[in-house]
Amino acid sequence: MPLLPKFKSSPALGGSTLSHTGTVVDRGLEGVVVGTTELSNVEGKEGRLTYRGYDIHDLAPHACFEEVCYLLLFGQLPNKQQLEDLKVRLAANRMLPQPLVESMHTIPKTAWPMDVLRTIVSGLALFSPVGEDGSHPSNPRSAIHLIARTPTIVAAWDRIRRGLEPIEPRHDLSMAANFLYMRNGELPITEATEALNTYLVLLADHSYNASTFAARVCASTRADIYAAATSAIATLEGDLHGGAPGKVMHMLLEIGKPERSEAYVRELLKRRERIMGMGHREYKTRDPRAEHLEKMAKALGDASDPKWYQIARALEDASNKVLQEEKPGMRIYANVEFYTAPTLFSLGIPSDEFTCMFACGRMAGWTAHILEQLADNRLIRPQATYSGPPVHPFVPMDQRSTRQGNGKQQAEAANA
Ligand code: COA
Repeated sequence: MPLLPKFKSSPALGGSTLSHTGTVVDRGLEGVVVGTTELSNVEGKEGRLTYRGYDIHDLAPHACFEEVCYLLLFGQLPNKQQLEDLKVRLAANRMLPQPLVESMHTIPKTAWPMDVLRTIVSGLALFSPVGEDGSHPSNPRSAIHLIARTPTIVAAWDRIRRGLEPIEPRHDLSMAANFLYMRNGELPITEATEALNTYLVLLADHSYNASTFAARVCASTRADIYAAATSAIATLEGDLHGGAPGKVMHMLLEIGKPERSEAYVRELLKRRERIMGMGHREYKTRDPRAEHLEKMAKALGDASDPKWYQIARALEDASNKVLQEEKPGMRIYANVEFYTAPTLFSLGIPSDEFTCMFACGRMAGWTAHILEQLADNRLIRPQATYSGPPVHPFVPMDQRSTRQGNGKQQAEAANA
């Protein structure tokens, strides 16, 4: 009788594994629907992304980030007065608590910006009202705090690590203009503000992506909005998610010239590495956000240094050419992170802050998802198929061998 559960991995099952009980385990939850949302919809086959039914292709050129925040948090596009009120509320909440700014001065200047952002966002909870059970109210007000303060943290750390004093936020500027002002100490040109605004709109939400799912799982335990937003930032960091654009920029810098792209891709694939910023779990076409980011990367590059856009364009073409040769029939497309790299780099933002910029936009979606989860909450608690050793007797310390082997071998020995 077999002692250990048997698992079969079959090509017919794609990324799934069949357990001895016949349960199909979907690795990475690929294709598994785990909940509902009214906030955004990703239609991967069609390459369409909508926020509450509005196509991203309409929102990107026409809406400001604050408008999208309103749409996500309050369910509809704002009228003029509603938008004005939200802008005032966001602007009034930009300042960080002074002790947090002081604590940022004590952080080593070499600290990774995402580590700082995650820590200080978590720290915001220390300065927000506490209920009797020690939790903080999770409501649109705290969502607005988080959305307003995230860019202030990013800009403040950017300056502190450069040995400069943080610049206080201004009340009379949009989210995008104020961020660039706080970072650079001067008012940005219109083109830069518009590009950053569009970037924030494009990044604001994306259904149950990994970081949003993490936020919802955390919120489902009835942890508060600060805890859930911190979980989301932690989950964003990895390069299979929001950590990719910094690595895209690293590739562009290494490639150095458009004509070197093809050789670079060949080398990368020979080492069985991935081309960062390419491919997507959901989109089987080009990521609809990439189109807008590509246009912005080109326009910003034309006005400053076109090299980064040109290398990115050549790299996307080379990736498809080489992949077609090596894996006929396979095609992967640029995702949102690919042209984010030359776009943000042209705005003067260093590559290790790209993921923080992602968080500035996505904080709108995260907080809206957290509130949506709490409005109709049920603990998210999935199951796992156990694949360890079967039940076997406890071995007292004096009977354990010095060369123990692993748990499965122990179980085999005990059950023999
Ligand atoms: N470069 C090279 N090959 C890639 C690739 C990439 N960027 N993305 C996917 N592939 C290949 C895989 O090697 C695999 O090929 P195989 O079947 O011959 O082994 C196939 O495509 C499927 O990949 P898989 O990892 O199962 O797809 P996924 O749905 O889990 O991957 C990503 C989605 C985003 C994790 C993946 O495309 C990736 O790693 N991209 C690079 C990182 C990135 O840009 N992250 C940001 C995402 S918005």
